[in-house]
Formats: sequence, structure tokens, C-alpha cells
Amino acid sequence: MRDSTGNFSVLHRACKLVVLLCFFHISVTFIFYVRSLDFRFAFAKHDQTASKDTVPDAFETNHFSVDNVTTITKELGKCPDTSPLLVGPLRIEFSNPVSLDVVRKENPNLKNGGRFKPKDCVALQKVAIIIPFRNRDEHLKFWLYYLHPILQRQQLDYGVYVINQDGDEVFNRAKLLNVGFSEALKEYEYGCFVFSDVDLIPMDDRNTYRCFSQPRHLSVSMDKFGFRLPYNQYFGGVSSMSKEQFLKINGFPNNYWGWGGEDDDIFNRLNSKGMTISRPSGAVGKCRMIRHNRDGGNEDNPQRFDRIAHTKETMNKDGIKTLSYKVVKVEKDQLYTKITVDVGEKMARQTN
Ligand code: BGC
Repeated sequence: MRDSTGNFSVLHRACKLVVLLCFFHISVTFIFYVRSLDFRFAFAKHDQTASKDTVPDAFETNHFSVDNVTTITKELGKCPDTSPLLVGPLRIEFSNPVSLDVVRKENPNLKNGGRFKPKDCVALQKVAIIIPFRNRDEHLKFWLYYLHPILQRQQLDYGVYVINQDGDEVFNRAKLLNVGFSEALKEYEYGCFVFSDVDLIPMDDRNTYRCFSQPRHLSVSMDKFGFRLPYNQYFGGVSSMSKEQFLKINGFPNNYWGWGGEDDDIFNRLNSKGMTISRPSGAVGKCRMIRHNRDGGNEDNPQRFDRIAHTKETMNKDGIKTLSYKVVKVEKDQLYTKITVDVGEKMARQTN
């Protein structure tokens, strides 16, 4: 009887030990499991930040929120070469005035400053659109009304910069374009620049406002010229250049005051650096010009023929490297960034 009681207590102790060991094992397993969860969470968080770095976003990085984190977990792919959103030929007309409030409402995806990037894919190019400007508010409204939806369908990461010449001095289109190039680059890492007159609207959204391996002339068949090029070297209206192409020609001339010649000078610059002009077909490159009388302060530049004849000698001395101006005012609207600038005065010796 004693023996069997003794055996039982040994067995009892052995069982207790086994139970304790099991409990210890379960506790250790549990602790490791909880720690691995922490680690996985931290890893996922790091991954989200990393994928955000590969898709830099000038707006969102400043307003990083939990909502953004969850949307960015799936890494965005590149947008396709040809946007599937394009519709082709467009009806463009200027008979009904445009209200900017309506344009703002119709383009809810624009960010302050006239900025946009596609939501579902990473745009292939970051494009700054530069519009030289003075007293053309009615034209600007039509431009914004028509272009914003087109540019969004083209899946561009873009910003619209209206460069407004301050004062009453003779208009200087090319210098304003240089200012636009330099001001836009202070804001964002643009790689492509579209230079557009405020009164030109494309009639087909397949005419993509982006850059190509050669400088691009986009307004190739304007109604004003009977839907054809006025001459082969014509580079006026709307054109685009990558940052590298623009810098290779030292940007645009700063000393063409008044109407005409600056676009021919730009063509000469490109030509002298061995570049050719890329163009869309006549059908895709159709565009309409808003009819208007010549602005005051933009009279024909009588010196243009002489200047065009000497582009090769002057282009290294006059361009983006020697650009000087003063910013007077910067206005940010949902539809555009408007920068008012003092571009200086036409020098007396330039009147001769
Ligand atoms: C001027 C250009 C202008 C073209 C078409 C040329 O004579 O020099 O600046 O774009 O005509 O109007």
C-alpha cells in the first residue's frame, strides 16, 4: 500500500513537470509570435515609405496622412505610351464666354497652382506648361477651359505657369518663356517644357503636350494659316523641349522686344546645335486660334530680320545663362500659377 502511494506521488510530480514544461513552451511560442507581428508591421510601414520615394509627389509628401499610406501600398505602374483616355478630334469654339468658377468645378482633381498627376499610374513625363501673358484674361479662360481636361486625359504630371509681363514696356515673349522655365524648375523637377501662346487651342487630344527625342513643334496646322505650316522652319505658337534640349541652346533670346522673330531665332538655335524638329501629322496637329486684334505694346519688331541673321553669333551670349528679371507677384489658383515679372526695359541702343 505504501509502495503504491509512493509510486503515485512520483507520477504526480512527473505529470506536474510535464504540464509546467508545456506551459513554458506555449508562453515562449506566444512571445515570439507577438514579436514577429511587430516586425512585420514595421517592415510593411517601411515598404510604404520606400514605394512613396520611388513616386515622388510634390503635393502629397507635405500632407502625408494615414489615408495616403493605405492607398500607396500598391505600387503604381507607369502610364502607357498612349493614354487610353484620348478621344481624338475635338469641337473647339469661342462663342460662349467661359466662367472660371465653372472650370474649377469641372476639374476637381487639380491641385493648387494648376497642378495635376494621374491617380492610377505614374506619368511618363513631368511637364511645365509656360504661357507668356499680358492682359489676355478672356483668352486665358478659354485656354484653361479646353486644355485642363485634355492634359488630364493625356495622363501628364503637369503644372500651368502663366508668366505675366508687368508694366507697359514692349512685350517680350521669349524672355517671359525663359522666366517660366526658370521659375517652374524652382517648384518641381520638371523634365519637359511646353511653351504655348495663350490663344491657341489644340483640336485633337492625340497631340500630346509632352517632349520627344527632338524638340517638338505642336501647333503645326493652325486655322489662321489655312491648316498648314506657313513655312518649313516655322516654330511659333506651341512647342515643347526637354530640359536638356532647352539648355543645349542656352534657352531663348532675351532681346526680342515686340512682335515677331523670336521663334525663328529659336529655330536657328536648334538648327545650329544639330537638332531637328519633330511634328505631329497635320490632322493631329490641327489647332484654333482665338481671333483678336494685335495688342498695344506688341508692335512689329523691326530689328527681327537683322537679329535672326546673327543667331549663331549671339546665342551663347544671350539666353537662359544671362537671364535677369524680378518677380513682382505670385498668385496660386486651382487652375494656374500666375507669376508677374518685371523683365526690364528695351535698352535705348536696341531701338537703333
Ligand atoms: C515671324 C514669326 C511669326 C511668323 C508667322 C514670321 O515672319 O518672324 O515670329 O511667328 O512670321 O506669323
